Amino acid sequence: MTEANSRSITTNQQGLHEKLDEIVTKHLQAEFKKPIAAHTQRAFDEVNERVQAFDGPVILDSCCGVGESTANLAKLHPDALIIGIDKSSHRLEKHDVEYKQAEQGQYILVQADLNDFWRLALAANWQPTHHYLLYPNPWPKAKHIQRRWHGSAVFPYIIKLGGQLELRSNWDIYVKEFARALALSGISTQVEAYESDEAITPFERKYWASGQSSTRLVVKL
Ligand SMILES: C[S@@+](CC[C@H](N)C(=O)[O-])C[C@H]1O[C@@H](n2cnc3c(N)ncnc32)[C@H](O)[C@@H]1O
Repeated sequence: MTEANSRSITTNQQGLHEKLDEIVTKHLQAEFKKPIAAHTQRAFDEVNERVQAFDGPVILDSCCGVGESTANLAKLHPDALIIGIDKSSHRLEKHDVEYKQAEQGQYILVQADLNDFWRLALAANWQPTHHYLLYPNPWPKAKHIQRRWHGSAVFPYIIKLGGQLELRSNWDIYVKEFARALALSGISTQVEAYESDEAITPFERKYWASGQSSTRLVVKL
């Protein structure tokens, strides 16, 4: 289990990044042409077969880490197939040992880079009903804005994939920036504080145990 002494976010940003609008607008107008990595293509092809054969709602749990949230979401949405995606094999390998839940619901964990996976999912016409993005890496240094999902070239594909998107972070500016990036795409949404009696991911549990709070947005794309 993760320890309960998570340091709070340290950033040299006071508010939204000064270049946010410029960066997001550039990405909204350009196609993301970087070639797809072979390992993500293979991982996608495998899971795509299962998704195409599945007759029910498909839900994405992007940046799923050890997949605890994926298993929790499968319990919450028993009629759906939940796809948890993370690039870290180290995290995914911990799933069966430490984070497997009761045999309820159906889910698949995939090791893949989301910069490629989201583009493949869109090209294969996936239409997730829900898309969870829980505690993505915040990249709080201003110079790393393009590593945040809303500052990355793949951002327009998150929007095009559609469904009800839920983003949670322990850094409120991340969520506010994401909301601004959505606004630049013509989608308005509310940012709100989020708390619950039960954490559904290890990072969420760790942040709350060390006195940090969560901010989220939920939006129908
Ligand atoms: C802060 S952790 C949160 C994990 C989990 N959602 C949780 O709350 O416990 C962020 C996760 O994003 C994953 N990640 C970062 N960049 C990624 C990428 N390009 N593709 C897939 N996963 C990525 C990392 O491997 C890491 O597991």
